Amino acid sequence: MSGISRHDVLIAGGGLAGLRAAVQVHDAGRSVAVVSKVYPIRSHSGAAQGGVNASLGNHPDGGDDSWEGHAFDTIKGSDYLADQPRAEILAQDAPVRVLEMEHWGAYFSRFPDGRIAQRPFGGAGFPRTCYAADRTGHQLLHTLWEQCLKRGITFLDEWFVTRIVTHDGRAGGVVALHVPTGELRAFAADVVLIAGGGYGRVFAKTTNAYINTGSLTAAAYRAGARLEDMEFIQFHPTTLYGTNILMTEGVRGEGGYLVNAEGKRFMDRYAPSVLELAPRDIVARAIQTEVDEGRGFEGGYVQLDIRHLGGDVIKEKLPGIRQIAMDFAGVDPIEEPIPVQPGQHYSMGGVSCDENGETDVPGLLAAGECSCVSVHGANRLGGNSLLETLVFGKRAGDRAAEIAGAGGAPDASPADALADALAEERGAVEALRKRTDGERQIEIRRDMQRTMTEKVGLFRDGARCVDAVREIARLRTRYRRVALGSGHAAFNYDLIDTLELRGMLELAEITALGALVRQESRGSHWRTDHPKRDDTNWLKHTMATRGKGGQPVIDYEDVVMAGYEPTERTY
Ligand code: FUM
Repeated sequence: MSGISRHDVLIAGGGLAGLRAAVQVHDAGRSVAVVSKVYPIRSHSGAAQGGVNASLGNHPDGGDDSWEGHAFDTIKGSDYLADQPRAEILAQDAPVRVLEMEHWGAYFSRFPDGRIAQRPFGGAGFPRTCYAADRTGHQLLHTLWEQCLKRGITFLDEWFVTRIVTHDGRAGGVVALHVPTGELRAFAADVVLIAGGGYGRVFAKTTNAYINTGSLTAAAYRAGARLEDMEFIQFHPTTLYGTNILMTEGVRGEGGYLVNAEGKRFMDRYAPSVLELAPRDIVARAIQTEVDEGRGFEGGYVQLDIRHLGGDVIKEKLPGIRQIAMDFAGVDPIEEPIPVQPGQHYSMGGVSCDENGETDVPGLLAAGECSCVSVHGANRLGGNSLLETLVFGKRAGDRAAEIAGAGGAPDASPADALADALAEERGAVEALRKRTDGERQIEIRRDMQRTMTEKVGLFRDGARCVDAVREIARLRTRYRRVALGSGHAAFNYDLIDTLELRGMLELAEITALGALVRQESRGSHWRTDHPKRDDTNWLKHTMATRGKGGQPVIDYEDVVMAGYEPTERTY
């Protein structure tokens, strides 16, 4: 295997889940490298604002919190689609994972007695969201990055994975394209662990970074992994009108109000007991309903008002969103309300895996937003995403090290399979580079984003979903004739975007198809033609497998219960 570098564990994705897993693999004594299409500290994890949940029970007004309470809130928030034993693991492991980050140097906000500060978040029965002002993801990302540097972990920066290589059905490495030079190379590993984030850029209005295209989710799907619950897309209620940059739920946690164009708070109509602190799916639909029924501001937004908190609180606890509102909307929240509207924020679905990250493909593990451990079900609670990266990043790292320690498969990364895959990828990329006659990817991408936002958005119905499925199929046909503006090698982002678009169309298709087939409303999936949850027929996960010819084949699996009986979800 000369010329092909080899590691026990290759982690694809340099965000929080990938870095947390890398620390674990390293500390277990296995060789590990992290391959990432951007520098890890530019990962989208750094954009997470409001906090990370753990039942530390530090809040002075809160009484006693417990992991059981956290698990219950998570399962109820999921509209009972979460696999209950997995939600229990998330809640049980939370305190130790968060305190570990504190001990590693994360700069959390504090209560006056010195303990980690915790704020209320939507759908939580207790103020259990630990935070670092409104830059929590940034804090955690830099802390883990430091831990990786301290350990001398190998990073392969700006390598875009084009393919996960399998041999006899088992993952044995990847082929990746070096963004600065255009070189393609194969990397061998006993275990490939993907931690690639979500695919929010499939939608037009999103809080997600440009990098969030689901490229590793799509690569895993093409390698044989099943995708789970892809129709469940989270729309964050409060994104900045105009750019859809996140305005953290922490704003409402600190006491912010939502106000319509009549100057009235309106959440009492939708969630009378918890108002602005209902789960995200409910608040997002409430805002959209106000707009749709003519009580929004022109252009389709409502206002998020925090003026009553006062300048000192805003500057101390919400400095990031203040700066963003000033820079991108010309609004200083100390003086004026912030214009907000719902926007795509998170993918509850992803690569189906167990609590240790193992997928259906031996040797391929997944963690973080690209995965579906099934803890978020139909609607994720705010603050559980950062937590998921720590809890399941750690567990996947442990398992990856274990598999590698056992020697992987006897013939886990055969040179021939890697060399063949490399040759095929080189051929495909070369052919794309040479093609000058055809449609540019951006046209197809914009049509996909518009279709998904208009037809598979906050409110869905059968007719719109059918339209979306048909339109995405047409876009896939158009993609066959896609051409680049230039075939240059160095930093050819047109090439990367074009390669990514192929996978985005596959993910869009599965999302639209799942939304069409699921004839009920549950969590973030709201069908106006089937407005009730239907536990008799739909208490089950949607599983998508790539069939022959590349079309998705849909199947179902039962939700795993652990004693939390589904009841009507009221707040
Ligand atoms: O609103 C927020 O700060 C986002 C948090 C999350 O997605 O967990």
